[in-house]
Amino acid sequence: MPMDRNLALEFVRVTEAAAIEAAHWVGKGDPKAADKAAVDAMRERFRSIEFNAEVVIGEGAKDDAPELYVGERLGNGTGPEMDLAVDPLEATDSVAHGRTNAISVIATGPKGSLLKAPDVYMEKLAVGPQAKGAVKLNVPIGENIRAVAERLHKTVEEVTVVILDRPRHIEMIKEIRNTGARVTLITDGDVAGAIATCLPDSPIDMLMGIGGSAESVLSAVALKCLGGDMLCQFVLKNERDIALIRSCGITDHTRVLGIEDMAKGEDLTFTATGVIDGPLLKGVRFGSEYITTHSVVMRVMSRTIRYLETHHRIG
Ligand code: FBP
Repeated sequence: MPMDRNLALEFVRVTEAAAIEAAHWVGKGDPKAADKAAVDAMRERFRSIEFNAEVVIGEGAKDDAPELYVGERLGNGTGPEMDLAVDPLEATDSVAHGRTNAISVIATGPKGSLLKAPDVYMEKLAVGPQAKGAVKLNVPIGENIRAVAERLHKTVEEVTVVILDRPRHIEMIKEIRNTGARVTLITDGDVAGAIATCLPDSPIDMLMGIGGSAESVLSAVALKCLGGDMLCQFVLKNERDIALIRSCGITDHTRVLGIEDMAKGEDLTFTATGVIDGPLLKGVRFGSEYITTHSVVMRVMSRTIRYLETHHRIG
């Protein structure tokens, strides 16, 4: 039985509440408090939703995260079993430092549809619909950039690659620049970076580099709805990461995963609300009578993408 369509709108209430609470912490220099505010608000909202979900992507394992941990059950237990991926505050540091590009985000699907994964790193490559199927992981960077340029009818010099500004990417950034392509560095938030490859008005053509696995699964749902493509591979640092991966039932961590491996089937939703302005959404605006939020709700089954501006009356 497909998910009740009304649930998709319930989910936006959850990300709106989390985004508003997190936005109170913009620029306060306290990432933990910002994250906790989002987690608490999200959990409180989930409590009243009539669904029966297990968190498969969350705030880590039960021992390090008191709430919204992988394996936690949410909702009032009615209806079919569902998988839930959550990032109450994606780009926590951006909020703490008053930078750009923070969102509150969730994705859902039927039980078994979303990849259950611990919070480890993944190598990522994302492109928009026109370049779907044209790129591969683990081939020379120039090959992928030229393939994308050809699909987009651009020169290589006109291709823009977004990548997290991290020391681990220094070599990759050099290689991208050596091809002649442009690089856009972001301090945080590769979910919005991946989605930006699919947005018609966006200057971003590709996302590359290593980021969080939770963000990969969330991005995969959105890119499936938007018709983009994403390839990922786990990058494990130590024995602990390997043990975590195994505890989630993943036996071959070297395999390259495509969208269908991370987000199976059609009955999937992606919901996000902006905390601070970014390429995907505007952030929370505090007015004298209303708080305004900006959200996107995507349903893969219908390929519907709804943008919602909500005015929440204060008091
Ligand atoms: P948080 O949601 O934990 O704040 O993650 C922000 C983020 O920038 C992600 O978008 C990205 O995938 C990940 O961090 C990269 O990890 P790191 O900051 O360790 O390089």
